[in-house]
Parts: sequence; C-alpha cells; structure tokens
Amino acid sequence: MIDTSTVIDGIHAVHGVHDVHDIGRLVDGETYRHGNPFGLWRWMRENEPVVRHEPGVFPAFWSLTRFDEVKEVLRDAETFSSSSGILLRPLAQGEDPGSNRTLALSDPPRHQLLRGAVAGWFAPRNLRRLSDSLDSAAYSIVRSAVAASRIDFVGDVAAKLPIEVVCSFLGVPDEDRPSLVQWSTDAFCAGTAEDRSIAHLEILDYFGDLVERRRATPGEDLVSVLAGLTHQGEHLPVDEVVLNCDNLLVGGTENVRLAMSGGMLALLEHPEQWALLRDDFDTVVNTAIDEILRWTSSATHIMRRATRDVELGGRLIRRGELVVCWLTSANRDPAHFPDPDVFDVRRGPNRHLALGAGPHYCVGTQLAKLEIRAVLREFFAQVGDAAVDGEPEYLDSIVVNGLRALPLRLTPRRTE
Ligand code: HEM
Repeated sequence: MIDTSTVIDGIHAVHGVHDVHDIGRLVDGETYRHGNPFGLWRWMRENEPVVRHEPGVFPAFWSLTRFDEVKEVLRDAETFSSSSGILLRPLAQGEDPGSNRTLALSDPPRHQLLRGAVAGWFAPRNLRRLSDSLDSAAYSIVRSAVAASRIDFVGDVAAKLPIEVVCSFLGVPDEDRPSLVQWSTDAFCAGTAEDRSIAHLEILDYFGDLVERRRATPGEDLVSVLAGLTHQGEHLPVDEVVLNCDNLLVGGTENVRLAMSGGMLALLEHPEQWALLRDDFDTVVNTAIDEILRWTSSATHIMRRATRDVELGGRLIRRGELVVCWLTSANRDPAHFPDPDVFDVRRGPNRHLALGAGPHYCVGTQLAKLEIRAVLREFFAQVGDAAVDGEPEYLDSIVVNGLRALPLRLTPRRTE
C-alpha cells in the first residue's frame, strides 16, 4: 500500500526542498496537484516555523507551520482579525468581497450576531431531528454506487450527501436542487477556472433570487432566518445574505466532500485500519472520524491580520501584517501528535485543528461528523470489497487540498 506522505516527501527530497527559497512553493497551486508538501512543512516546522514571505503575486505575509503558533492565532480574535479576509488572495484580485459581511469574515461583536443566528441550526438538538433522513439519503447514495460498480467516489458519493443536507437547511425547493448540485459540482470540479467561476456566479444569482422570495414570504429555513436578520435596526443587505448563503454552501459541501474522499482513500491504503473500523464500527467510529479529519485536513490554510504588534515564535509581527496558518502542517506536528504521519483510526487524544479553533471554530462540526459517519456506516454495510481502480487526481488549490477524483471498483457485500 502507498503511504502518500512518504511518496510526496520522497519527491520533495529529490527536488532538494530543504531550503528557505522553497517556501514560495506553498502558494503555488501546482505544488498540491501531487498531494501535500509534507516534507517542506516538516522542514519549516523544524527550521523556520514563523517565516515572512515577501510580496509578489500575493501580498507579504507570515507563514506559521507549527501547532502552537497556529492555535494561538486562531484563539485570539482580538489580536488576529478575520474581517479583511481569511484566505490568501492574489494582490490583483483586491479585497475579499465577503470582508466584514460574512460570518467567517467578521470580528466581534458583529461575528456574534451572525453566529448566534446560524449556530442553533447546527446544534445537536436540531441535528438529531435530521439524523433519520441523513441515514436514508446515505443508504440510497451508497446503494446506487454499489449498483454502478465502477464509480468516482468523489462525485458519485462524497459530493452528494453534503449538498443535499445544505440545500435542505437553506430551504432550496426540491425542483431547484438538481441545478444547484450541478453548479456546485462545477464550481469545484469543472476543468477550467472560467467554468468554475461561471458556475459560482450561477449560485450567487440563484441565492439572490431566493433571498428576495424569502424576504417576501419567509419559510422555516436558514435563508429566511438570515434574510430576516437585523443589525442596528436595518435588515442585512441582500448581497450580504447571499454571500453568507454561499459561504454555508461552500463551507458545508467542499470540506466534507474532501474529508470523506480523503478518508476513504486512507482507509483503502491502510487495510488494517479498514478492518479495525469495519469489525468494531460503533466503538471505533468517533476516533476514526477525528483521525480522518486530521489526516485529510482539507482546509489548507486560514489567514488573519494582526491588529497590534505581537510576538509569535520569537518573531515580531507588526500591526496590519498578514499571518497564514497552515492547518495541514499543524496537524502533522510531532510535538502534539506522536507518529504524526501514521494513520491510526484509534488515535487519542487527537485535538487537531482541521476545524479551526477559538471563536470561528467550524459551526458545522457536528453535521460534518454525522455525514461522514452515515456514509462510512453504509459503506461497510453494503460494500464487500472496494479497490482503487485508476489514478486518484488531486486538486491544485492553495485553499483546500484533497481529491478531485477517486476511481473505485466496488463489489456488493454478500448477504448470508
Ligand atoms: C470536514 C468538514 C469541514 C471542515 C474541514 C471545515 C473547516 C473549517 C475551518 C478550518 C473553519 C475555521 C475558519 C476560521 O477560523 O476562520 C470553519 C469555519 C466554518 N465552517 Fe466549516 N468545515 C467543515 C464542515 C462545515 C460544514 C458541514 C458547514 C456548514 C454546513 C461549515 C460551515 C462553516 C462556517 C459557516 C464557518 C465560519 C464560522 C465562524 O466564522 O464563526 N463547515 N470550517
């Protein structure tokens, strides 16, 4: 079986990565097309854990690769602000359109207002109500996959459940869902950047319409809640509600899809871990899901802007400077994870940062875990044998990492 991190380390070692000049490769999407640059991150944690990148395509920023500094930044929203953007953007693209307008790109106190409005929807009480429909959707998705026998696990399984669930939270009418499923698949997976952005514009357009409709006739859904929300006596502008819907759709689908498919590949590459989970599912599943989240760590980086001069890992970060937290690296930091490059479904404790930390900690955490659990459960119930049946393809993004396609061949489980 292939241990991806070893292969990638091997590739980087051959290319002589262990040098400060190589840190620029972190912001080149091509780097991730071959899997994550774990060798480079290891070198940075050991030699340059807090290092400044000079301006170029991107503005100047500091890279943080160790667990401790990353966690310190994420927990301190006063010193490290989210409001001007949380993802590196090329200078030419200007400011993030969501700045100061979406939940993720707001600082307190505005952040609490938005978070308070959506958090209840993702609370265990609400999710318990959802649990049956989630299980039956997972059953049908896996049943169709088994019937097809040769599938792309990313598109045919991992992408399907999250989009169904988010559409139901947002109150997207049944008849509109196929279009939204298509646009959101294209927005992530279409072959060209142009097709991806066209699909994204369709999504924004669609939500623009839906928000207007819900403002006129509110329903029992998250779009209606956001459309009805007031700040200092005024409704949020429509485009602000639209951006928040888009964030929920993107946040709620993309990362779950990547975690599920990366987790499936990890299980197939580690048959002894597959067997541990299959043979004692209820006991092992919780630690297995956290290990899948740590291992895949699909949100590659999260950015903040310093609101004052501050020292981090012995370096002085000036007020106004950007710091980029490489979550995928922090989750392989041996100071916090013994044998970090070993995939261990029973790992514990496993306080990874795949879902962030502090006030912006992922609001969809419990939902993401429920979805992964439902798909894994069905997989073990319905699939006798699964094998990788072609070359897995990786995304070439600096924002999220993981699989664009995972060809599998499935054999149904025999019922006695
Ligand atoms: C495996 C699945 C997921 C991963 C890896 C993930 C990752 C993250 C991370 C790292 C953050 C922190 C961002 C920051 O600190 O600035 C975050 C926040 C967020 N996530 Fe997730 N997420 C996942 C699933 C979901 C789901 C299912 C939803 C909703 C349907 C969701 C919605 C959000 C939202 C709205 C925020 C912003 C929260 C805030 O700023 O208060 N995520 N997520």
